[in-house]
Amino acid sequence: MFNHFKSLFLNKKEDIPTEKLPIDLFLDLHSHLIPGIDDGVKTIEESMSILRQFEAIGYKKIITTPHIMQGVYENNPQIILQGKELVLKAIKAENLNLQFHAAAEYFLDARFLDLLEDGNLLTLDSNNHILVELSYMFKQNNYEHILLNISQTKYKPILAHPERYLYLFDKDLRTFRKIKELGVLFQLNMFSLLGTYGEKTRQIAENLIHAGLYDFVGTDIHKPKHFEYVKTAHDNMLLQKLLQSGKIRNHQFLEI
Ligand SMILES: [Fe+2]
Repeated sequence: MFNHFKSLFLNKKEDIPTEKLPIDLFLDLHSHLIPGIDDGVKTIEESMSILRQFEAIGYKKIITTPHIMQGVYENNPQIILQGKELVLKAIKAENLNLQFHAAAEYFLDARFLDLLEDGNLLTLDSNNHILVELSYMFKQNNYEHILLNISQTKYKPILAHPERYLYLFDKDLRTFRKIKELGVLFQLNMFSLLGTYGEKTRQIAENLIHAGLYDFVGTDIHKPKHFEYVKTAHDNMLLQKLLQSGKIRNHQFLEI
C-alpha cells in the first residue's frame, strides 16, 4: 500500500530496505529510551532492544523524550544529554544504522514557566519545536495561559497525545480547536488507535483524525514488550489513512 513512498527516500544503496514504511514512519519523535530516568526503560539493554527493533523495521531516526515533571521526574538537560551519550555509545558499538537525538516531554506546570523563561529547553529540532504534556487526570486551570506564553517565545509547542486528555473532548472538538488556535501542534500516539489506553481515547483519536487536527505521529514507547504494538499500529487502516492525508510532518525532523 505504501510502495509509492519508497522512492521518495530510498536513494542510497547502503540504506536498509524500508519495506513498506511511509516516509513519516522513518522517524519517531516520542519515546522513553534513556535508562532509569523516568517511567521508560530501566536498563541500556532495554533501550537497545527497542532501538534494534526500530532499525529492523526501517526507522532511520529516533528522538527520545524523557519526562520533565516537577516532583516526579526531576530531569534536566544535563541528565538527559548524559543519558543520550550512553545510548549513542551503545548504538555505535552495535553499529546500528539509526540516528538518535534526545529532547524532553515537558509537563506544563508552574515550574515549566521558569524553564521557559530560562530559554534552555531541549528541542526536537533546530526550529525549536518542543514536546509538552498535560495532566491525564484533571483539567489544569492555567494550561491555556502556559500555552499562550509558549507561543510568545521562540518555541513551538507540540502537544503529546491530545486524545488521552478525555476532559478536553466535546462533540464539536471546540476545546481542541481552541488549543490549536494558540499555535499548538498535535501528536497522535499510534497505540491510541489500538485501544491500548481505552475505548474513549481510541474514539477521540478517531475524531481528531477525521477532523484533520493531527500534525505528528509518535509511539510513546516505554518498554521493549510494547514494540509489538508499533507493528500492529502500522497496519491500522486509520493510521494509514492519516499518513496518506499529507498532513503529518514527521519527515520535517529527519534533518536537524
Ligand atoms: Fe511520553
